[in-house]
Amino acid sequence: MKIQIVCFMFLWSYAHSSCVTPLGATSECVSLYDCAPLLASFEQRPLPSHVVSFLRQSSCGFEGYVPQVCCGPLPAQTSTSTPRPRPRPTRPPNNNNGQRSPVEAEDSSPAPSDVCGIDTQGDRIYGGQFTDLDEFPWMALMGYRTPSGSITYQCGGVLINRRYILTAAHCVTGAITREVGTLVTVRLGEYDLQSETDCMNDSCADPPVEVPVDSSHPHSGYSDSNSDKRDDIALVRLAQRVKYSYYVQPICLPDGRSRLTVGNDVFVAGWGKTLNGRNSPVKLKLKVPIFEKENCIKKYRTLGAELTSNQICAGGKFAEDACRGDSGGPLMRAKNNGVWESVAVVSFGYGCGRDGWPGVYTSTANYLDWIRSTLQSTNV
Ligand code: ARG
Repeated sequence: MKIQIVCFMFLWSYAHSSCVTPLGATSECVSLYDCAPLLASFEQRPLPSHVVSFLRQSSCGFEGYVPQVCCGPLPAQTSTSTPRPRPRPTRPPNNNNGQRSPVEAEDSSPAPSDVCGIDTQGDRIYGGQFTDLDEFPWMALMGYRTPSGSITYQCGGVLINRRYILTAAHCVTGAITREVGTLVTVRLGEYDLQSETDCMNDSCADPPVEVPVDSSHPHSGYSDSNSDKRDDIALVRLAQRVKYSYYVQPICLPDGRSRLTVGNDVFVAGWGKTLNGRNSPVKLKLKVPIFEKENCIKKYRTLGAELTSNQICAGGKFAEDACRGDSGGPLMRAKNNGVWESVAVVSFGYGCGRDGWPGVYTSTANYLDWIRSTLQSTNV
């Protein structure tokens, strides 16, 4: 009896059921990411509404969090791009059948927009500030080897392709190397540092992956001794290419066109210091508003810091801020099409969470050329 049940469950989870596509053809209900024609239709930005509605009609359920589609071609006028091989963005949890051979993305370019920033639709937000288990799968923890030989995680970052993490310069150079240690490892796919397997509502994440650091590349304009912390941005090259999974995925970089305006809500996430004064073991997120730049410049001028046009201010509400340990992590926003982009890097603040004092962030959009050229010149 027991064996029968197990066999049945096995067949149930691996056999694809047949279905009828919106165009009337008989097909199979498969993961969206295994359906090249429909996946290719995601290339268009913004997604035309007729494509959205065709995708919706093609839906045939979910496996874990992964949308399943009745796979078939789009109607002629809907399909504007020819399907081509691409890296696969996600994989259902616990479904590593190992049969797919992902097309490798170029290490020297940021993630293509159709396979980055995918909204994993974290739908079980706990207590407002905890992220969902699967939320922000690009979040990275930067690990330092201390003089005593142990590893401590003291900064955040984001995965932007299979080889590189975007973080803050002060997370890879200057005081941190003397006071904490050398950056040696990056942890991806982490949720709660205190538990080995992270689970929520009966679903468990894959174990986190620890990737050794190959080299760190802080922006040459950064120096600890500049009080404005200008050019506080860095790229970290990993010693190995990262395998994308449901819990490890890259975020998009801004395309340089969209502007942030005052009051826009963006999210900051990390494992940094919380109100209780300790680093959080659990990945946290916080919605912060973009703060008026002129006002921010005036405030920081009183502290002797002259902010540049490459910095963004956000937050400014009492007890709502990034803090120590969040540095290098992202300020993110979801674009209208639901794709997440990393708009800035956590840099510094005047203490944390003081009323009227926003945090200062390095604007990613102002460094796209630097990112591109650094990816190229360091990818040896
Ligand atoms: N510089 C700090 C770090 O090393 C965090 C900066 C963020 N501070 C703030 N108040 N927004 O982690």
